[in-house]
Amino acid sequence: MIRLSSRLSAVFDQVAEARKDLGPGRVIDVGSDHGLLAVSCLENGIATEAVCTEIHQGPAGHSKEALKEAGFEDRSCVYVTDGLNGISLKPGDIVVIAGMGGLNIIDIVTRCIASETPELLKQVRFIIQPQKSVNLVRKFFAQKGFDFDDESVCTDRDFFYNIMRMSYSGISYELGAYKECYGVLLPDKEAAGDALVKAYFAHLDEVFEIRSRSDLVVREALNERNGHENK
Ligand SMILES: C[S@@+](CC[C@H](N)C(=O)[O-])C[C@H]1O[C@@H](n2cnc3c(N)ncnc32)[C@H](O)[C@@H]1O
Repeated sequence: MIRLSSRLSAVFDQVAEARKDLGPGRVIDVGSDHGLLAVSCLENGIATEAVCTEIHQGPAGHSKEALKEAGFEDRSCVYVTDGLNGISLKPGDIVVIAGMGGLNIIDIVTRCIASETPELLKQVRFIIQPQKSVNLVRKFFAQKGFDFDDESVCTDRDFFYNIMRMSYSGISYELGAYKECYGVLLPDKEAAGDALVKAYFAHLDEVFEIRSRSDLVVREALNERNGHENK
């Protein structure tokens, strides 16, 4: 069995949760690099097939090799492509985009939703783990009509990572500065005493204190947070 890093384990957990509510189907790992997540999903029976996409030939080769070594050559495909270009989604698919910058994720998902029908998108789940620009990613998904089914936080080598599990409803909405910056579901987890989310928010409070000098959205979020705390 493949051993995943803490970050990829947290991504895997969200894939497993999404699978419970979808029934059998594929996992599509966009930017698969080493291919470990796809192998793990197949090993643990949370995907019937794995599709890996990679923009670069080298990592695509690593994914192919990992899937072959694990004995899944016949239940997997690896494509060298940009994002989901050339991949048609199917009901039951779980699309994972992990370990990439938020703007890259936004670009990939923008093209994906333009090429699929709303009916099909409603039968797919998206697991998103941005490395940066997390607030822009949340704002984008809300505006494009995605619901946040879950949000989690993990630490890996002293860094915090956000993982979002999303489904498409097609109903666009605005989150506002606080939810964009601190999360849609994470504030409730903090209020419920989740120790990891509390530590993450303490870290964000420090980072945002400095960033708020030049970023108006962060300033608004921080003001709202301080208002909550003062109540
Ligand atoms: C840092 S790695 C993350 C790998 C893996 N998803 C993970 O979370 O461990 C990012 C990978 O995404 C690939 N990538 C970047 N932009 C891409 C795009 N537009 N389409 C497909 N792959 C992309 C890179 O080549 C790289 O292998």
